[in-house]
Amino acid sequence: MLLARDEALSNQSSKELKNVEEDGGRSFWNRDYLKRFHKMASRLERFKKVNLQILIRVPQDENAKVLDMCCGSGRNTQLVFDKMNLENGNGRMWAVDFSPQALMLANQLLGNPERILFKDEDVRQMCFADNVFNYVFDIWGSTHIPNQEWKTAIKEAFRVLKPGGYVYFLYWLQGSNFGKCFRSQINVVYPKSQELLEAIKNSGGNVLDAEKAFSNMCLLVWSKKPD
Ligand SMILES: C[S@@+](CC[C@H](N)C(=O)[O-])C[C@H]1O[C@@H](n2cnc3c(N)ncnc32)[C@H](O)[C@@H]1O
Repeated sequence: MLLARDEALSNQSSKELKNVEEDGGRSFWNRDYLKRFHKMASRLERFKKVNLQILIRVPQDENAKVLDMCCGSGRNTQLVFDKMNLENGNGRMWAVDFSPQALMLANQLLGNPERILFKDEDVRQMCFADNVFNYVFDIWGSTHIPNQEWKTAIKEAFRVLKPGGYVYFLYWLQGSNFGKCFRSQINVVYPKSQELLEAIKNSGGNVLDAEKAFSNMCLLVWSKKPD
């Protein structure tokens, strides 16, 4: 069932796609895929269940500086913003993606919010200084970077995170059915759990907890940069 939906989502002619080596999959994501993904993810119970699994670990911290990497249509941006209660403090959220179409959609869906800054960034090399964010979220984001370059994005997540800050990762795992159709188009290979956990440790992060999600197809990792 999921596979059929997945196929419907990825009916992109390969002619339209640029060379993945050149653009890291940007041309793939910069199209109406995200609108359809947003609709599907907002409707299906399985996606809602994962959201709850993430949010249960997110504290209220209204003065925090928060980064949402690969924000897509802003689904998680909004949920995290609300849970942290950023509206009622001095906190701020930066939501980044390298698809201008995703950023436009997110800004529109979230109603051009004052305290959320949408920014065109490639998460393999972001413009932010070191040690600036209290929290970083990478929810089904850098897991989609081709050619094992998701490891570079994980390093970036910990670079921009303050000592004592937290990173939340949600990654599709090797062997999962999801994205079978589009993954070959953009040369994405999902990692094994162990590879992901090692990449986090090699980037200077401590894994606080990790649990399977989405019928064991994903790994949710809650990690910390040492003080
Ligand atoms: C499946 S969507 C997930 C979006 C969102 N986090 C969610 O859960 O709804 C993956 C997103 O990652 C973005 N992305 C992929 N590679 C990226 C990169 N190198 N830099 C920035 N964004 C990237 C895509 O543009 C897309 O919006």
